[in-house]
Amino acid sequence: MADNLQLNDEGKLKHFLTIEGLDKSLLTEILDTAESFIGMSDQQVKKVPLLRGKTIVNLFFENSTRTRTTFELAAKRLSADVLSISIATSSTSKGESLLDTIRNLEAMFVDMFVVRHAISGAAHFIARHTAPHISVINAGDGQHAHPTQAMLDMFTIRQIKSDFSSLKVAVIGDILHSRVARSEILALNTLGAAEVRVIAPKTLLPAHVETLGVSVYHNLMEGLKDIDVIIMLRLQKERMTSALLPSESEYFKCFGLNEDKLKYAKPDAIVMHPGPINRGVEIDSKVADGPQSVILKQVSNGIATRMAIMAMAMQKPGMTS
Ligand code: CP
Repeated sequence: MADNLQLNDEGKLKHFLTIEGLDKSLLTEILDTAESFIGMSDQQVKKVPLLRGKTIVNLFFENSTRTRTTFELAAKRLSADVLSISIATSSTSKGESLLDTIRNLEAMFVDMFVVRHAISGAAHFIARHTAPHISVINAGDGQHAHPTQAMLDMFTIRQIKSDFSSLKVAVIGDILHSRVARSEILALNTLGAAEVRVIAPKTLLPAHVETLGVSVYHNLMEGLKDIDVIIMLRLQKERMTSALLPSESEYFKCFGLNEDKLKYAKPDAIVMHPGPINRGVEIDSKVADGPQSVILKQVSNGIATRMAIMAMAMQKPGMTS
């Protein structure tokens, strides 16, 4: 279902909350804009003045290493003023509601909120209730969506493999609890990937998962056949409310990616993981640190991709537009 809340009257990005409802041309515009920022990391002065005078607030109600820091770096490289609020030491811990926190920050003339929250829909809620001039970017909400992770992963795939239309992609692991998986599947299908597979035990798949436009495998070796891109996922134990697996070691034996199992995919397949990785649970160190791994490239690409999304939401074109 289209989420028109994300687009302004001219069909341009206003908020970035989910991949759902965004078309191929908009996703491609994000990737092209990110491309225009990618060389900046090698420059002596890693800054452009696109968002000079704008104030961006990072509101992270859940832990984060990669997303929070790359959003902060991206905002700084666009010359915005950026504040990262530590929720653990904010007045949220004294009982202040989310809406009251937002109202108080609005009173400080904020232009953008970047929000991570454990509750699905939190970023949408803020976008619906915040002042009309403010943009909201979803940095991960519950089990629902992590759209900027999906876009930086699409950027990384395009950088290495060029054309989505010939690609077979496997998403492996805890699909049930993964906001990353939902956003990746939407983005891959929108960009026209040839096939998207999910590989997982039945207990870690949502009901009717095939309606997302994926083929389903329960055997890792079978599912890896002819695959170009492998996206590994962490077991999200913090979101599991019951025992869904016999043990971590049993899970690794069946669904963990090691060098032997990697051989079932195409020889030039790339291995991705949004992080944080749990070595020996879903991925072996020799694969995570091996020649086919692009895990740290994903992190680096997060800066340019998040710069693109923030610049576009503020109606500022990229470097070459
Ligand atoms: N991939 C990801 O969202 O990582 P963080 O939780 O460290 O931000």
